Amino acid sequence: MSTDQLDRFYRVLEKNCSVIDSPEYALLVVPNGNQALPVHRWFHLKESYSSRLLARVLKDVNFGSNRELRVLDPYAGAGTTCVAAADLVADREVSRSTAYGVEANGFLQLVASSKLRALQDPPASLPALVKKIRRAVLSRRATTPEPPTLSTFHVDAYFERAEIEQLMRLKVAIDSAEAAGADELEIALARVSLGASVESVSNLRRDGRTLRYVEKPFRQTALQAFERLAGVISEDLPQRRVPISGRVIRGDGRRMSGLDRRIQPFNLVIFSPPYPNNIDYTEVYKLENWLLGFITNTEEFVQQRLRTVYSHPSVLRPDPLPTPLLDKAANAQLEALVEPLLAVVPLDRYAEGRRRMLRGYVVDMYLTIVSARQRLAAGGAVVYVVGNSVHGHGSGQFVIAADLLIAGLAKAAGLRVERLCVARHLRRRFVSSPYLRESVVFLRHADS
Ligand SMILES: C[S@@+](CC[C@H](N)C(=O)[O-])C[C@H]1O[C@@H](n2cnc3c(N)ncnc32)[C@H](O)[C@@H]1O
Repeated sequence: MSTDQLDRFYRVLEKNCSVIDSPEYALLVVPNGNQALPVHRWFHLKESYSSRLLARVLKDVNFGSNRELRVLDPYAGAGTTCVAAADLVADREVSRSTAYGVEANGFLQLVASSKLRALQDPPASLPALVKKIRRAVLSRRATTPEPPTLSTFHVDAYFERAEIEQLMRLKVAIDSAEAAGADELEIALARVSLGASVESVSNLRRDGRTLRYVEKPFRQTALQAFERLAGVISEDLPQRRVPISGRVIRGDGRRMSGLDRRIQPFNLVIFSPPYPNNIDYTEVYKLENWLLGFITNTEEFVQQRLRTVYSHPSVLRPDPLPTPLLDKAANAQLEALVEPLLAVVPLDRYAEGRRRMLRGYVVDMYLTIVSARQRLAAGGAVVYVVGNSVHGHGSGQFVIAADLLIAGLAKAAGLRVERLCVARHLRRRFVSSPYLRESVVFLRHADS
């Protein structure tokens, strides 16, 4: 099969959707502006969407301001959806809200859940806890445990010894304060401050799929970075509780595992899943997770990768299709949907990794959509944001149109694709394809 044939296949999938160029979404599918906003700015997740996306989506699904907004994000990331829902309540743009999130990454779940909890019940004495931690770190009696075994922490060019030691003392001081009975949410916020400081203390910078070495001419010390961020968090805490219920739990967005079955259905399920673009969140956010002890050895590192959506080929998993989680008919539908893509995978040394990833990705997205549908209230909407990506090299390049693949899966799962809004066209050198784009896709129950 050629890429022309693949484009023809995409055109067939597109026939089931109303595709609309929607440049008004261009700045909403990226974290544009989040770094300047209270609470959103506590941790910069490059793959987040904008804090203003939710409001725009609510407008486009004609969500009235007098109803309770019940929103679920199965790929919560840094918690943009839940915090945006709280912003809408605080600004009285919706009367009431319940927001739940699911996130697989330990550190990111800590960030997202702490943000929501801090808005629901702002703690009073974070500055006092930070002072106590500072005293413990600077104390002559402070012990300095060994850094995590992850090799990155042991490369002198990446971390200065003194900084690693201070990071470890901060960790111990927080653990000790917890053991001494400090407020649980304040401890969580202290850990967010520590985790969010680690990159800035190193000579590493997140760059797409990897952490890249960059010699930073000026770096704060670990203690300065920690105190600065804890100061920002204290400053952002609201004066009054925001009346929003819900939680961000650590679990699996594909099955919504960990999300109590008794929770009332949601009128909006909104998410941006990992894109099939080889970004391995476990790798990119490894420093934070190892430092805080969410991952302590190589086996746990591998297990964490396996818990994530199959959007990257970093660990070759057993062939995900057919999956015992689905019946024969559903497996056959997924096989048929992914086949045209498998046919264009170049026969190079990455072939098997790519094929498995594609097969895994359709399984994971199908499970996500089915789970979202099960949690959806009558008349509710499922909205996803996803980017399409180029794979392969030279003449073997092809586009994975994740927006259309997921739309095809949604149809198979009994949802109707109301519209596919093209937020922005993406540019890649040597590739010109109408499918290279980032989209916001609106789904409804087929019978609504
Ligand atoms: C594109 S990001 C979501 C960003 C989020 N919308 C925000 O604005 O912060 C995708 C997220 O999915 C998470 N993830 C990957 N596999 C997962 C799984 N199986 N269950 C839940 N979350 C998962 C990643 O850790 C990452 O945080």
